[in-house]
Amino acid sequence: MAGDRGYGTVARLFHWVTALLVFLMIFAGIAMTSEGFRDIRDELFIFHKGTGAILLVLVLLRVAWRLVRPAPPMPDSVPPVQRRLAHWNHVLLYLLLVVMTMSGYVRVVAGGFPIELLDALAIPPLVPENTDLANRMSVLHKFSVYALMAFIGAHIAAASYHAFIAKDGVARRMWPPIRPGGG
Ligand code: HEM
Ligand code: HEM
Repeated sequence: MAGDRGYGTVARLFHWVTALLVFLMIFAGIAMTSEGFRDIRDELFIFHKGTGAILLVLVLLRVAWRLVRPAPPMPDSVPPVQRRLAHWNHVLLYLLLVVMTMSGYVRVVAGGFPIELLDALAIPPLVPENTDLANRMSVLHKFSVYALMAFIGAHIAAASYHAFIAKDGVARRMWPPIRPGGG
């Protein structure tokens, strides 16, 4: 059965490219708002905004792909409570990725700031200037990143448990990034 081989290559590539970019975004976001990296602040901001815009599109495509290709069935050995926890953690991760990318985009564009990558691609601002909205989105952005980090932490702990302790094949559903045997 196809489900036994875990997620398909498209879902795996979405997962690992998103994971890598999200880690870089968290690092850049923290560094660019701290004094320690003042000398490369502008570069970090340009990177954060441009990569964030790419992530915004990537996350929406990923959610759309997930809706047309449901998750493969879990191994029978995984207890129902763990399945439910995993399911809701995944839903919240998707939701937080949408909130993070949307709030970041609106915070910048409604604040009247440029997103250099989108300017270079001649993509116009999709939200009118509105300082109040930008300020609220800034709070949402800063607040949501704590929740995102907490859920990522729980997610990595669970994945490590399956990979190194339970050794029940759950980790191989998503690793490696290309599905062995194709498809
Ligand atoms: C998953 C995607 C994203 C992650 C994980 C992320 C993460 C972060 C983090 C950790 C900070 C520092 C928060 C703090 O000051 O305490 C930050 C700030 C910021 N981010 Fe993001 N971000 C994401 C997407 C975006 C996007 C798409 C944009 C804009 C296109 C953006 C624009 C900003 C800006 C302008 C700040 C400075 C804080 C402010 O002025 O509101 N971010 N981000
Ligand atoms: C920014 C970091 C990450 C995010 C946002 C993230 C997000 C997600 C999401 C949303 C899913 C659910 C896939 C679906 O059913 O549609 C998933 C699955 C998975 N992730 Fe991550 N992930 C991250 C990092 C990691 C890391 C570092 C590992 C390994 C240590 C990992 C291992 C897995 C595994 C094994 C699955 C499959 C779970 C299952 O069989 O249902 N993830 N991830």
